[in-house]
Amino acid sequence: MLLDDSLRGVDLVSRFDGTVVDVGSGTGAPGVPLAVSLPGREVVLLEAERRKCAFLEAWAPANARVVWGRAEDQPVDWAGVAVAKALAHPPTAVEWCLPLVREGGAVILWVGPSAEPQRASVVAEKLGGKLEDSPPGFIVVRKVGPTPAGFPRRPGVAKKRPLA
Ligand SMILES: C[S@@+](CC[C@H](N)C(=O)[O-])C[C@H]1O[C@@H](n2cnc3c(N)ncnc32)[C@H](O)[C@@H]1O
Repeated sequence: MLLDDSLRGVDLVSRFDGTVVDVGSGTGAPGVPLAVSLPGREVVLLEAERRKCAFLEAWAPANARVVWGRAEDQPVDWAGVAVAKALAHPPTAVEWCLPLVREGGAVILWVGPSAEPQRASVVAEKLGGKLEDSPPGFIVVRKVGPTPAGFPRRPGVAKKRPLA
């Protein structure tokens, strides 16, 4: 069930302080269930499609706010945790999410069994990140340095020309 799938990340997200940003929130997974489960945390529901943002506005709990925009156009190095489910292949998702996260924070991707963590790891190392031991169904990347110059690349480039 969709709700259970979002909630299996609560413990993992709780290990990192700070604002949680759900990148490509769509209809709110996993960001809305995480916000309800963690009422003390600020949650940003970041979504590129305006129509989906209108839907999210209607369902966002008090500790969540909706931002209409693409990950590549956001400020860098501010979130404690960036989460994403079904956003893009992991190498692209890491490239979109990691710049948003401050040092010491993490990207947590919900992934299927065919995900290739090694490819995500290659991208992470180019963007100030490091692949962590990750529980099944997740890829966890820790932000260990600031976002390097040149990132994020222009909107759409990470998908067209993935780094791994
Ligand atoms: C397949 S949907 C997944 C939605 C939700 N996370 C879920 O699991 O149901 C991917 C979403 O990411 C959004 N998206 C794609 N690229 C994005 C980007 N670069 N920045 C922000 N949102 C993006 C799309 O508009 C879409 O709503």
